[in-house]
Amino acid sequence: MRTPLVAANWKMNGSREFAEQFLAALDLEGVTAEVVVCPPFPYLAQVAEKVRGAVLGAQNLSKETSGAFTGEVSAAMLRDFDVRYVIVGHSERRSLYGEGDELVADKFFAAQREGLTPILCVGETLQEREAGQALSVIARQLQAVTGRASEDELQRVVIAYEPVWAIGTGKTASPEQAQEVHHFIREQLGAKGSGIRLLYGGSVKSGNAAELFAQPDIDGALVGGASLDADEFGKICRTAA
Ligand code: PGA
Repeated sequence: MRTPLVAANWKMNGSREFAEQFLAALDLEGVTAEVVVCPPFPYLAQVAEKVRGAVLGAQNLSKETSGAFTGEVSAAMLRDFDVRYVIVGHSERRSLYGEGDELVADKFFAAQREGLTPILCVGETLQEREAGQALSVIARQLQAVTGRASEDELQRVVIAYEPVWAIGTGKTASPEQAQEVHHFIREQLGAKGSGIRLLYGGSVKSGNAAELFAQPDIDGALVGGASLDADEFGKICRTAA
């Protein structure tokens, strides 16, 4: 039985005041899904202190453990703030910061070494989808991690399928399109696949969450834009049961 999971990815949005108001307004009463809030680094402590009914996630981490890496944040530092989950391989990191499959895998294992659960993002661009390459791109992104992971390491992972063309665009993959890819991902994961939570991400809102969550291989969502509205995010969480 996979417990649904809904994660808020605030990206580089918010402020101290925003976090304060969001946490005061977030009502997770009656929510059975596991809820994760991933604020920007400076607000981790504030969210850790005030959040009720959700756990803390981070949006990024360094592959290094410590030392002369200006501007980087290590997995151990995240642990210090009670962070449980960390997003790795988000398409914005891949495309805007040149993070390739190997670096994503290094970050994945750096997180796991500190006991954090990586939320590994995979997904194809519009060009790749139109060229019929969606599944092969996703297989490659997965293989970069699964090819290096032990059976045990593969137990502690959440995977988010985020078609790049659906992120922040208002275009959502249809439930059938998303299900097809989720099913493919589960098959790629082999015997362990049935226990791994697979999230969908890309313009998820309260209005489309139910039909996505109704798909057999969709176990929750990674929510960007709609996670900046506590009421809307709460509704999405309530839909996942
Ligand atoms: P979006 O972002 O919900 O704004 O499309 C999702 C994500 O990038 O994780």
